[in-house]
Amino acid sequence: MGLTEREGFAVRGRTALVTGASSGIGAATATELNARGCRVLLVGRDEHRLAEVAERTGGEPVHADLTDPAGLDRVAGAAGAADLLVHSAGLGWAGELTAMPAERIAQLTAVNLTAPMLLTRAVLPELRRRRGHVVFVASVAVVGVAGEEVYSATKAGLRAFAASLRYQDGIGVTTVFPGAVRTPFFDGRHYERRVPRMVSAQEVARALVRAVERGAAEVFVPKWLIVPARLQGAMPKTFHRLARRFR
Ligand SMILES: NC(=O)c1ccc[n+]([C@@H]2O[C@H](COP(=O)([O-])OP(=O)(O)OC[C@H]3O[C@@H](n4cnc5c(N)ncnc54)[C@H](OP(=O)(O)O)[C@@H]3O)[C@@H](O)[C@H]2O)c1
Repeated sequence: MGLTEREGFAVRGRTALVTGASSGIGAATATELNARGCRVLLVGRDEHRLAEVAERTGGEPVHADLTDPAGLDRVAGAAGAADLLVHSAGLGWAGELTAMPAERIAQLTAVNLTAPMLLTRAVLPELRRRRGHVVFVASVAVVGVAGEEVYSATKAGLRAFAASLRYQDGIGVTTVFPGAVRTPFFDGRHYERRVPRMVSAQEVARALVRAVERGAAEVFVPKWLIVPARLQGAMPKTFHRLARRFR
């Protein structure tokens, strides 16, 4: 299952900061962490949904837009108290690349890739001191998905950032690669693929927390998605041929 150079990170009694906590995988992760005795700091823009998650988890809301430097500063300030950082905030976009507005490319890159890099950089010294852990919610789209060139690129960038960060002493790093997950992420577009089947946000959250506790470097949800990911790395042409057939 990938590299496991570091022992696990026990979440009980620790503090986690979760971005994207107002919805989907982030909200489910905050709930799972809270159930396991971890205090949660909840980052999002939607005050109403964030307040609901805060009530459910006893967590503390941190309202911030991750594309805004002031918002990022606020989150970095709150993250100073965290032992575990979960980067779950993210945006998707599917369609013909030439129809994708430039502003949307900038926004996807800012939320999916730049914000996790800036936040991680801001809290790294403190996280190292606490022997903390960072989680990146990437996507199986790192293999390159038709019609999702920009999204796939941001997630592949995140995977490379995480792999490089793993050389830092004193912290643990886990990257999670979900397939298709039943969340508002797909609002406004149909999920038409035959595979992978959709999983719940709770399934991803449970796998994420288990991976952190094991100190796993990379985890795919569902697990079998590691097979196409490995195939794409080893035999890109064969993978491409097969992927076209299963579109
Ligand atoms: N759903 C899937 O099939 C799937 C598959 C693979 C990977 N993923 C990844 O999983 C992560 C979570 O996705 P999800 O399915 O849980 O989607 P979701 O339910 O749509 O949640 C996205 C979260 O990102 C936050 N966010 C978006 N833009 C933001 C901004 N500018 N500033 C601050 N927060 C912002 C949203 O907060 P507000 O609503 O408060 O703005 C929301 O909490 C994403 O990184 C996504 O790429 C999802």
